[in-house]
Amino acid sequence: MARDIRNVGVVGLGTMGAGIAEVLARSGLAVTAVELDDAGVERGREHLRNSTGRAVAKGKLGETERDELLGRISLGTDLAALADADLVIEAIPESLELKAEVFARLDGIIGPETILASNTSSLSITEIGMHTSRPGKVVGTHFFNPAPVLRLIEVVRTVVTEPDVVTDVVEFAGRLGKTPVVMGDRAGFIANALLFGYLNHAVRMYEQRYATREDLDAAMRYGCGYPMGPLALLDLIGLDTAYEILDTMYHQSRNRLHAPAPLLKQMITAGLLGRKSGRGFYTYQAPDSPEVV
Ligand code: 3HC
Repeated sequence: MARDIRNVGVVGLGTMGAGIAEVLARSGLAVTAVELDDAGVERGREHLRNSTGRAVAKGKLGETERDELLGRISLGTDLAALADADLVIEAIPESLELKAEVFARLDGIIGPETILASNTSSLSITEIGMHTSRPGKVVGTHFFNPAPVLRLIEVVRTVVTEPDVVTDVVEFAGRLGKTPVVMGDRAGFIANALLFGYLNHAVRMYEQRYATREDLDAAMRYGCGYPMGPLALLDLIGLDTAYEILDTMYHQSRNRLHAPAPLLKQMITAGLLGRKSGRGFYTYQAPDSPEVV
């Protein structure tokens, strides 16, 4: 019988974790969200306030509905609060060491049937799962940024993920109003494997002064109908995240398409991470603000 997933945990409240918590709460689910420390909890709370505030300002969500939505998300710093979860989605930074530690700790806290999912975009789900006593109940659930807007969830199965776990997660993704796709555990999964060669190529073109950032972006928006140009999209994703994804794919496939453009590394070293730091290829009036100066 399919699991009845009602009580969902989220670990990590950065851009993706907070977005995922919002998606879950929008579907009426009770969400328990855990961050490392109080500052992380505050950042997550602020992100949730801003994101839902945007919907209220546009008249798409009433004040009361918003309060109810936020009321369904309980925030804290103690992983033990996830003891009763049916599913836990981890969305902490892309470090295998950190993820392994969190998965091992969660394994000792949650019930035996609880599914453990990672939102990693570049690490191996198989390796993460091996740090638990239940690799058969470990999957990838890869959301896209902004999570409340984009409909895709990549459901990643490893060679040992139990088939009913995949079926239950796919069904659950549909209940969230998302479109799930299923694949094996390979760096980049489907979407990033196709997208990041293109983004990296755009950085190389910009680096070679082939065209201005505005013209590169305009070409893809107005010529190909993409919602954003590649450089604006890299700012949204975060240059550090993009670098990690490219680097992992490059090391796995040795495909030069994914060898990170040197400019990416230089910008990261200089603290230009994109929207989240206020400056990337473009400058933003405030972190996370779409207003370009
Ligand atoms: N959080 C919540 N909602 C947001 C949002 C955010 N950060 N940003 C935009 N929205 C909502 C708006 O409120 C608006 O909602 P409405 O339709 O209900 O009014 C809707 O999205 C459209 O937003 P805007 O009108 O402000 O602006 P745009 O029409 O330009 O859309 C965009 C903004 C949704 C970001 C759109 O440009 C887009 O889809 N861009 C491409 C994003 C993309 O490709 N993401 C994938 C990145 S790869 C990835 O995530 C994988 C990872 O592993 C790196």
